[in-house]
Amino acid sequence: MSPFHLTRTLPEDATDAALRADVHRGLTGRPKTLPPKWFYDAHGSDLFEKITELPEYYPTRAEREILVARSGDIAAATRARTLVELGSGSSEKTRHLLDTLTDLHTYVPVDVSESALTQAGQALAAERPALDVHALIADFTAELTLPETPGPRLVAFLGGTIGNLLPVERAAFLASVRALLAPGDALLLGTDLVKDEEVLVRAYDDAAGVTAAFNKNVLTVINRELGADFEPAAFDHVAAWDAEHEWIEMRLRSRTAQTVKVPALDLAVDFEAGEELRTEVSAKFRHEGVRRELSAAGLDLAHWWTDDAGRFALSLSVVR
Ligand code: SAH
Ligand code: TRP
Repeated sequence: MSPFHLTRTLPEDATDAALRADVHRGLTGRPKTLPPKWFYDAHGSDLFEKITELPEYYPTRAEREILVARSGDIAAATRARTLVELGSGSSEKTRHLLDTLTDLHTYVPVDVSESALTQAGQALAAERPALDVHALIADFTAELTLPETPGPRLVAFLGGTIGNLLPVERAAFLASVRALLAPGDALLLGTDLVKDEEVLVRAYDDAAGVTAAFNKNVLTVINRELGADFEPAAFDHVAAWDAEHEWIEMRLRSRTAQTVKVPALDLAVDFEAGEELRTEVSAKFRHEGVRRELSAAGLDLAHWWTDDAGRFALSLSVVR
């Protein structure tokens, strides 16, 4: 078995100041919102894995198709010795890269979900004796300190997770990733693409109700961590396409007029019947927009690859 290190840069206790501040700001704002990173407790990470297997949720399959076809090109273009993956989750698709990056020495999966990181990281370290696995429990929207590992580094951000950041957050995020990269390092970015509204909405509102359960899990997290009394059954899952911003918006709609107590914040939150709480956006992209956003962060788009059906794209930028 190869080395498996786990480093924590997030406080052990999820009831830390960040959760309190986020929930307070979100529930007292108008419209009400909740920030997405709190979806991913152990149950949330399991539910997300189930989403990736749903017939309606095409992004995982489309991105895997591109990785299978292009990992060789990515290896040739980067010669990476360290692969850093942000929001790595189960690291399932990443296996295609790990198989193909022949110079790879170290894998650094970064995630807020300790359960997902430990499961994936330990399995990979056991299967791949030559690979040094250095898992990092960290928030990729905060300042990241990466372990000292051999270059060149390839930073991968897959799954279309960049679309879960708002445009201003995306710009800040890309600039901070750029600041981590030295000449010869690279960024591999997965983006879901604008397409037919019906296909998009179904990917976030599946027939089996797994996405609904995932969306409502954030309420369970707040109940557990902050002592709140959200009744998940009193909310409906809503997925709507916002054509102006070109993003899918996930919301929870209060079925009745109700008051939810959040004792840890000394807060009582009133919901009107039909009032919606925004839990997540998932932005969809176009080639030109991705090129522009990368360029604004000082990154040049070197390769743009899509699946055959043109649903999803991987972009590669190599720092000169
Ligand atoms: N890369 C995987 C998982 C995508 S789901 C795939 O493509 O299937 C998004 C992942 O990002 C989850 O594992 C979640 O725990 C993680 N995540 C979400 N917000 C995060 C944040 N702010 N910092 C670190 N990880 C985050
Ligand atoms: N990165 C994923 C995406 O935007 C996350 C996701 C998938 C998600 N389904 C969801 C987030 C449902 C919230 C609710 O596709």
